[in-house]
Amino acid sequence: METILIVDDEKNYLVVLGALLGSEGYEIVTSENGHTASRIIQEGDIDLLLTDMKMPGMSGMELLEHAKKVKPEVPVIMMTAYGTIEMAVEAMKKGAYDYITKPFENEELKLTIHKALENYRLLKENRRLSQALSDRYKYGNIIGKSKPMLEIYDLVDKVAQSKASVLITGPSGTGKELIAKAIHYNGPRKKRPFISINCGALTETLLESELFGHERGAFTGAVAMKKGRFELADEGTLFLDEVGEMPPPLQVKLLRVLQEMEFERVGGTKTIKVDVRVVSASNRNMKEDVLKGSFREDLFYRLNVIHIEVPSLRERTEDIRLLVNHFIEKYRQDGGERKIELSPEAWKAFYSYPWPGNVRELENVVERAVVLSSGNGEIGVNDLPPEFSNKSETLNVDGFIPLEAPLQATLENIEEKLIRRALRHCNNVQAHAAERLGITKSLIQHKMRKYNISI
Ligand SMILES: Nc1ncnc2c1ncn2[C@@H]1O[C@H](COP(=O)(O)OP(=O)(O)OP(=O)(O)O)[C@@H](O)[C@H]1O
Ligand SMILES: [Mg+2]
Repeated sequence: METILIVDDEKNYLVVLGALLGSEGYEIVTSENGHTASRIIQEGDIDLLLTDMKMPGMSGMELLEHAKKVKPEVPVIMMTAYGTIEMAVEAMKKGAYDYITKPFENEELKLTIHKALENYRLLKENRRLSQALSDRYKYGNIIGKSKPMLEIYDLVDKVAQSKASVLITGPSGTGKELIAKAIHYNGPRKKRPFISINCGALTETLLESELFGHERGAFTGAVAMKKGRFELADEGTLFLDEVGEMPPPLQVKLLRVLQEMEFERVGGTKTIKVDVRVVSASNRNMKEDVLKGSFREDLFYRLNVIHIEVPSLRERTEDIRLLVNHFIEKYRQDGGERKIELSPEAWKAFYSYPWPGNVRELENVVERAVVLSSGNGEIGVNDLPPEFSNKSETLNVDGFIPLEAPLQATLENIEEKLIRRALRHCNNVQAHAAERLGITKSLIQHKMRKYNISI
């Protein structure tokens, strides 16, 4: 409910106006003099001021000036007697929203108030939105204010409240695990455990017993009963990292558990019921794996109820500056008395470097640079790894292509990757991808058939 403060030295007016506007659903506060009114404006929470112009003591004009000073956005409507139009115009110049000449029609007053309040609501909403936007350069431990990151924050906000499965995909080092944790710690399960398991790091048998636990004697070496991660994550969140690497036989078991929320420990018969929220992550193109048949489609849909795609750092360079400053503060050892800055050349190198390892790589580079530059307050190109001072545009293959790599197969491998990447960046529009790569559309189609790339 919106509150209107009515100020008039004539009590009758206060009573009549109060009744009229009160019946419109507004909350009414009245005052017979400017001094009391100015206190109410300052300390109270009013949405509109309706004030008489001529009052003994503090005049309406002075009250207007005061209101504009302490609550500049609250609309003020002046009531003037016939013959004081000039003053009304003066009031408008001083920031009054409108004026109304006594005596007036009730409808006229209601309409003016209605418009003023509508305008005020819009103003507040706009301010709230731009405030929210400028505040959002981070979400918990996640840093970034690029458009895709802001969209991710919104999505995390929404999905954190639900139990829906979330699949987070994106290149290595883009912060998928951070996002998974943000989902857990911003939702109702935050007081319960966040348990993670890397599905790519274990053999099939080990992974199975890690996920579901095992009974004593279930296999050689199982000297005691062990709870699995599903059990440990009860009422909390289970993070299935690198879920795309899960061996097919386990995919079947996982699907069943996700459907029923119950399972048996390896070597056991007792059914264990759990309430687990599942968030998974992968840096693979899972849709492609489904098409190729290496990942079960039904499990994919179970995991992928909500999809969060994290773009590479290259696709959101506007986050680089924030991230660099964040990691400088994180790794500096001197308690932060002095400013540590990047030299202009170092910034340039940061912006032109392709960051194949994404934020993880950037974090490592900054940590190393902070140590190397220690003392002089500036990080220069010399404090960065050698590839950062490589001025030529040529591809530096040392370090990431092994010396014994066979030429033809390696070139084809790189060619396939470039084509896939270009298609991904161009939302699978072949003509655009071809243009980016500097080849014809028919050539890209030919290569896509060669490498079995379907879109
Ligand atoms: N937006 C970010 N803000 C701050 N730190 C980040 C951000 N993104 C990633 N990091 C940091 O980079 C490192 C890698 O992040 P994380 O482990 O979440 O990546 P990932 O996507 O899971 O990578 P991988 O696919 O290799 O497992 C972590 O140290 C993390 O704190
Ligand atoms: Mg990870």
